[in-house]
Amino acid sequence: MRTLFVLFVAFLLVACQQEPPAQSLTPEQSAALRPADTRIAGLYEQSCKSCHTVADTGAPLTGDRTQWDARWRKGEDELLNNTIRGFNGMPAGGQCFSCSPDDYNALIRFMAGRE
Ligand code: HEC
Repeated sequence: MRTLFVLFVAFLLVACQQEPPAQSLTPEQSAALRPADTRIAGLYEQSCKSCHTVADTGAPLTGDRTQWDARWRKGEDELLNNTIRGFNGMPAGGQCFSCSPDDYNALIRFMAGRE
């Protein structure tokens, strides 16, 4: 019994340390996601969503970790800088005119599947 318990705890530890596997989403699944915070959700719907749920824009789809994981590894500071300054097809500020740096960080975490 004791051995079983120890095995169970060991299993839980291993299970908790691993991130869930990256899953790709369809644009429909991506568009159905919404930030938990109402104010952030409002900012998202007025700006980022119009590109980040549409595959043809070339923007990584919201919630699709197969498209976000490599970008996430750049670090939150660089993603924030690229959002504010613009990055290739990504317009400076992401068309959000009232977003603060903290708002951008929350939006990026949500879109990268790390809310
Ligand atoms: C007009 C379309 C458009 C809008 C609006 C938009 N994005 Fe983007 N975004 C893009 C495209 C296209 C890329 C991919 C650029 C590339 O990698 O070449 C991108 C990439 C990004 C990246 C990854 C940058 C990197 O370093 O890899 C972040 C972070 C990002 N967008 C955040 C946001 C946020 C936050 C908003 C809303 C405030 C937003 N975007 C709104 C088009 C858009």
